[in-house]
Amino acid sequence: MICVMDQVFHISTEKYSYLLRINRHGLPEHLHFGAPIQMEDHLALACKPGLGWGGSIILDEKDPASCPDIMPLEFSGNGRGDYRESSIEIDGKAVDFRFVSSRIFKGIPPMTQGLPQAKDGEETLEIVLEQPGSRLKLYYTAFDTVLTRRAVLENTGDAPLQLHKLMSFCVDIFGDFEMTSFHGNWIAEMRPHKQAVTGGRVVNESSTGFSSFRHQPGFLLSEPCATEEFGQVYGFNLVYSGNHYSSCQQSFQGLTRVMMGINPSNFVKVLEPGDVFETPEAVLTWSDWGFNGVSSNFHRFINHHIVPEYWRFKERPVLFNSWEGCMFNFTHSRLVDLAKRAKKLGCELFVLDDGWFGKRDNDLAGLGDYNVNMKKLPYGLKGLADKINELGMQFGLWFEPEAVNPDSDLYRTHPDWALTDDHPDLCGRHELLLDLTKPEVRDYIVENVSRVLDSANISYVKWDMNRHSIALGAKAHDYILGLYDVLGRIFVPRPHILLESCSSGGNRFDLGMLCYSPQVWCSDDTDPIERLTIQGGLSYLYPQSTFGAHVSAAPHAQTLRATPLTTRGNVSFFGCLGYELDLKHLLGVEEKEVIAQAAFYKAHRMAFQFGDFRRVNSRGGVCWQVTGENVTLAGLFHKLESAAPGYEKLRLVGLDQQKRYHVISRAQKLRIGVFGNLVKHIAPVDVDPNGALLRTVDHHVMLDDSAEELTASGAALHSGVMLHNRFAGTGYDKQQRTQGDFGSNVYVVTEAE
Ligand code: DGJ
Repeated sequence: MICVMDQVFHISTEKYSYLLRINRHGLPEHLHFGAPIQMEDHLALACKPGLGWGGSIILDEKDPASCPDIMPLEFSGNGRGDYRESSIEIDGKAVDFRFVSSRIFKGIPPMTQGLPQAKDGEETLEIVLEQPGSRLKLYYTAFDTVLTRRAVLENTGDAPLQLHKLMSFCVDIFGDFEMTSFHGNWIAEMRPHKQAVTGGRVVNESSTGFSSFRHQPGFLLSEPCATEEFGQVYGFNLVYSGNHYSSCQQSFQGLTRVMMGINPSNFVKVLEPGDVFETPEAVLTWSDWGFNGVSSNFHRFINHHIVPEYWRFKERPVLFNSWEGCMFNFTHSRLVDLAKRAKKLGCELFVLDDGWFGKRDNDLAGLGDYNVNMKKLPYGLKGLADKINELGMQFGLWFEPEAVNPDSDLYRTHPDWALTDDHPDLCGRHELLLDLTKPEVRDYIVENVSRVLDSANISYVKWDMNRHSIALGAKAHDYILGLYDVLGRIFVPRPHILLESCSSGGNRFDLGMLCYSPQVWCSDDTDPIERLTIQGGLSYLYPQSTFGAHVSAAPHAQTLRATPLTTRGNVSFFGCLGYELDLKHLLGVEEKEVIAQAAFYKAHRMAFQFGDFRRVNSRGGVCWQVTGENVTLAGLFHKLESAAPGYEKLRLVGLDQQKRYHVISRAQKLRIGVFGNLVKHIAPVDVDPNGALLRTVDHHVMLDDSAEELTASGAALHSGVMLHNRFAGTGYDKQQRTQGDFGSNVYVVTEAE
């Protein structure tokens, strides 16, 4: 709800209040963002600057406290006495916008320049500010768990304006905070970094042209005492896939200025008289239930208001992807064989990855040429898709439409379509990007991708992009607008196609892409121990329904780490489960485990994909919890085993303290091979632990791992219930969890009868 009283504006939901007012100088002043409060509280919440501060500019000689430098503002000016970082730069001149009017809209006024935006907001507040020659509109939209903000600048004068910087929002919040941002690289996305926000500016920005795995746009600000479960935390993110910029800095008076928007570095946009420029939408949220509270607010918002309507709360299929198993090396019959195996294991969607078109037998050539390789696929895509459908599976296809290899017919015909930025030979993965700012390039992509999609029964698309840097400046923004145009023209008319966006893994995991693709491929790193960091990091900002999470072969291709198949499955359950390995080489015992995994996942799919996700503090391991309609599932994951491990509890949060719950572990099996030389001591005859006999037994026989079963109250589960102890070198028994390095279990928790 949005209420106005004497130029005080109160945006409130059950979860939060956001309060601002227009002060006596016509500047929008921030009063409160946090716990739900009452409109009448505005005077109590306002800063009381007394007689002002020395060393400041004064707006009104009669008011010694009218120093812009110490006001908590909703958007800054520039060069007029507010010495903190400015959220706007025009023509290198002073900027001094003052209040003119306000309006409240039902719903959300639509974006006009092609940026994606959250849908189904309740109400929007528009604050209009002016200075000679330009008008600035600030928009605030209330959603139940978050608030979105954006800004629109209009040239109302008669000369062109050069816009160098326009943040989506700026706000001055009182308090001491730590900023958690997420940094990384290829196969190592989403490493959290926490730093104190003090007098020096803390910046989180990307300048590669994309949101980038180097610096994820979303970030958090927390009170120093905040934990996963308690304390005040703010969360911020941007509905945008291009260069982003955020900064936090604490003023001497204890106000922390936070801003977020398009990266101003190298950015310039010329606005002719009458032109407008609109920023991407920023998302702001607050919780005093710690980091989990903020994550839950983001998750709810994304599942309800960001992903395309068709896919909201729609179960995602268990998929098989051909990439890690085949790479470029496949034929129709090899794919059909894989599909049969995948179907038997429980997969529902078969995805053909890279290598199906042009001369694409490696990554050196063919991008841009969307003619099917008839040597590999003599029955064409339709022949393959029909066959897969006949097997009872859906069919999906990989594309990389934004890129072109210099060795391609497309590049030879239209070298000027590539975005070379005067450096024609600067390739990344042997590719250049197509210049999506050109309408003819966008038409080429839309026509070709649409033609292929309509040529066969295709239910899923993986939209890849592997060239990590594009032209600088305003062109980078126009490229992103071009990308959104192309995605909208292809997929809005085909809403049933499940789009999974990918950029060498998670190089473009952002809210802009999620407006088109309900899923994003988190990382090319499918090692489950790495995924604890990657999916764990993403979980702060994004719901598990948006994570593509696959089981692949071990030892892992990127880390050479050997992990149990059980753990590979258990980690992938906390996302959209898929398999990506050569199924021909699965042992009989592994097939049985995969069949069990897929069946277990499907039985709890709604909870795994859309349940309320929590990171639970756990002694010695990583614990993730999801709570669906009638069930809570908890994954407890260990990294390196230690000798004689101590007791361990399973803690669950948010359950009804008074109710009783039944807890049972997922039935897991143990390979005989985990016992290595120890088998010698229990076998009736002398066996060679590395010999053929034990290898054969290991490939065919499995032992039961410990089965945990108990009942406990929600209160006991909150404090933690004791689990069977782990293997401690004293023997094998079902009362003991035999995990070794990288072991894990999933626990199913339901209300006791
Ligand atoms: C990069 C992606 O991240 C991979 O999953 C795979 O699709 C390859 N591209 C294909 O070239």
